[in-house]
Amino acid sequence: MNLENVLVEQKDNLATITINRPTKLNALNKATIEELHLVFKTLNEDNSVKVIIVTGSGEKAFVAGADISEFADFNVEEGTELSRKGHENLFDFVQNLGTPVIAAVNGFALGGGLELAMAAHFRVASFNAKMGLPEVSLGVIPGYGGTQRLPQLVGKGKAMEMIMTAAMISAEEAKDWGLVNYVVEQKELIPLCEKLANKIINNSSVAIEAAIKAVNANYTNCVNGFSVEIEQFGVSFGTEDFKEGTSAFLEKRKPNFE
Ligand code: COA
Repeated sequence: MNLENVLVEQKDNLATITINRPTKLNALNKATIEELHLVFKTLNEDNSVKVIIVTGSGEKAFVAGADISEFADFNVEEGTELSRKGHENLFDFVQNLGTPVIAAVNGFALGGGLELAMAAHFRVASFNAKMGLPEVSLGVIPGYGGTQRLPQLVGKGKAMEMIMTAAMISAEEAKDWGLVNYVVEQKELIPLCEKLANKIINNSSVAIEAAIKAVNANYTNCVNGFSVEIEQFGVSFGTEDFKEGTSAFLEKRKPNFE
């Protein structure tokens, strides 16, 4: 892959994606979104990759938002297209990825940056992280899923407050509000994500993919999450991993998931 704005590192079953535009606080321009789409797609298709960590380069920012310089002169059609394409290629794409994605929020996660972190399956932050949806301060609204995913994570009232005030919250507030699962010193951020990833790696990737589908179904309009859970639960019974996992338990040994 020929990448300019994204670094990819692969170690055993774990891949780390680093968004690498530190001089622009890793703001998401069109090229970076396209590269991220390609990288997430490629890693998801690689069966040896069982967990993906996504983070930002440098010590200051995860991602400081969509690149304002690229859309400042967009019209209604261009704005609509920007949002639609972003959903399709990155934000919905990541949420629905079969491979688990952990966001390691290492600094500012604003606008599209927080939206990317929220599209990941869960989040871990460092103490210096600051999170917010500042879009209304720019006369626009969050357009990469923020109006939907923020209320899902923190509840409607807190989401309304964050969106309307455009204010940033600290990592500790984000943890209290359920937006991130852990807050640690910056140097411990990736090691903690790796530790969590290693726990995930020991489990059945097939079952995890089905669980992601079932959990996400509850957050999809017009889809009954419980029906999808029932369907995916049934599907699990036809997999080799299910046979191996249950046999290993009954035989009092560790499962060996291919
Ligand atoms: N889009 C484009 N460029 C951005 C950016 C964004 N979202 N966020 C930061 N940058 C650029 C700055 O323009 C600056 O570039 P320059 O050095 O070429 O002038 C560089 O990144 C560093 O940012 P700077 O503002 O100088 O850093 P700071 O420490 O003073 O402030 C922030 C940090 C995050 C508070 C500030 O950059 C900011 O408010 N960014 C925009 C956040 C936002 O509104 N995001 C939502 C977009 S919809």
